[in-house]
Amino acid sequence: MTDQFTLADSAAQLILKRTTLRPQIALVLGSGLGGFADSLTDATRVPYIEIPAFPRSTAIGHAGQMVLGHAGSVPVAAMQGRVHLYEGYSPQEVTFPIRVFGRMGIRAVILTNAAGGIDRSYSQGALVVIRDHINLQGANPLVGPNNDRFGVRFPDMTHAYAKEYRQIAREETAKLGIPQHEGVYAGLLGPSYETPAEIEYLRSIGADLVGMSTVAEVIAARHMGIKVLAISCVTNMAAGILDQPLSHAEVMETGERVKTTFEALLRAVLPRISADVSG
Ligand code: HPA
Repeated sequence: MTDQFTLADSAAQLILKRTTLRPQIALVLGSGLGGFADSLTDATRVPYIEIPAFPRSTAIGHAGQMVLGHAGSVPVAAMQGRVHLYEGYSPQEVTFPIRVFGRMGIRAVILTNAAGGIDRSYSQGALVVIRDHINLQGANPLVGPNNDRFGVRFPDMTHAYAKEYRQIAREETAKLGIPQHEGVYAGLLGPSYETPAEIEYLRSIGADLVGMSTVAEVIAARHMGIKVLAISCVTNMAAGILDQPLSHAEVMETGERVKTTFEALLRAVLPRISADVSG
């Protein structure tokens, strides 16, 4: 079996051959939030199917392509759609795109996701900057022999979500007049939504948000020394908080509703993160 490093490296070379852009920032766009990639200028689109070893999403609402283009004057590489553990992909497959980003020279990644709100002060549609996570996925992408070319055996997770990027996101949300929230994201396997009892448990262990993505990608990014900003869109209040069933349709509808605000926030933070990575 060809090792992950060699595979990631060849995928990175293939992608970079298609464009003269050399982005240092990557975006992973979650459920219903992929539209941002359509607004990039000078765009080159690389369908995942054309990238060797790149996993393809089966979830509704996730297109499958990488878009390299400019957001304003900032070159970025955006993943329109991601894969999840609940689709049956291994943690290595789920994090392969992050490793490709690393080999492409990406130094910061902005991850977005749809999440259920556990903190009762959130409302549906709130944007929450992730301060930390709790990995309850029962999986870790670094299990197995360590590949020293990616990073160390026991990577530190104390500053997984860069403090200065959280600060930037806070300042830019304030400027845009968006309510400011920060929270702890509990990553679960899914695909069933949580039970109300599970949500009460998650609250008691310090979670403010719950979702089925992001955690493995953050671990792989930190392993490679890539800095992370992650923002959740509270597409629904978590199970049992409101006396109503959860549905994927609701998740997608909320994503659609806050899209413009979310995109404005991404556009606002990008030049500042760009200044950090190129500085
Ligand atoms: N739970 C888990 N994942 C989610 C949710 C939720 O309530 N909403 C969007 N993704």
